Amino acid sequence: MSSEVSNKSNGRSTTQNKFFTGNSGEKLTVNHLLEMKKKKEKVAIVTAYDYFNALICDRAGVDGILIGDSAAMVMLGYHNTAPIGMQEMLVFCGAVTRAVKRALTIGDLPFGSYQCSVADAVQNAVLFIKAGCNAVKIEGGTEVVPLIRSIIAAGIPVMGHIGFTPQTSSLWNNNRLHGKTEKSALKLLEDARELEEAGAFSVVLEMVTDEVATLISENLSIPTIGIGSGLNCDGQVLVSHDLLGLYQGAQLRFVKHYAHLYETIFDAISLYRKDVKEKKFPQDTNSFHMDKNELRKVLRKLKQQRKLRND
Ligand code: KIV
Repeated sequence: MSSEVSNKSNGRSTTQNKFFTGNSGEKLTVNHLLEMKKKKEKVAIVTAYDYFNALICDRAGVDGILIGDSAAMVMLGYHNTAPIGMQEMLVFCGAVTRAVKRALTIGDLPFGSYQCSVADAVQNAVLFIKAGCNAVKIEGGTEVVPLIRSIIAAGIPVMGHIGFTPQTSSLWNNNRLHGKTEKSALKLLEDARELEEAGAFSVVLEMVTDEVATLISENLSIPTIGIGSGLNCDGQVLVSHDLLGLYQGAQLRFVKHYAHLYETIFDAISLYRKDVKEKKFPQDTNSFHMDKNELRKVLRKLKQQRKLRND
């Protein structure tokens, strides 16, 4: 496959190498993310689930690619993240990690893969590493600390995830926003500190008030990665389908659409359909021709065969 990306829609004229050129391109590890926190450099993470999107994200220079269990909704059409299993996640992890050269890849342990036993959690984390991931993410606070310690003891870096934890939060309450009260703020601070102490290299703060996300970020030496948690987190993560304007679900306030690909793709497919119906595609330039002499021979043969059949 060509490493060149066309800058014209017909892909024929000028092309340019569209690669992120901001650094040496060396493979990022969890240590790079820890260094970024020290240097106050923001960490940019995005989700990806397939080869081509991962390739583009990596070339665009994001620091981390999360193979999130949001794949359940955006890739598989489930209504929430609960149904997705290890086998499905591993297919996405393999596709992404085959594409990525530079970014840190983080596999999201799905619901059910770490709730039953520590041994299951470690074994499933190992499967993510075998699929090419550099780290795993696990939802929960103090209650998952023993799991995190065991996964790290197996040599696998772990990212925590607190605040709104999609796998189970919605089963208990409808309140997505966390850190609105003193009690909630103190619990989040305690969870974050315990995750750091357990050895997590980073923690996602999902739907945490700006004030509490700021306090957590100031009090931890590992980077906080916010989603709906304000500007003061050490980094940000967004679901790629949201930022690309691909997912037509509920419009979330914390999402910024950097493109409107749903409309772009819809228009392209509609135009293709119209062209087929109106016999405008394929054109001669999209077609292949046989040698005129060869064609003449075929037609002669067909004529003879027809004659034989009719005699
Ligand atoms: O699955 C996912 O995409 C996530 C992010 C929202 C952090 O967990």
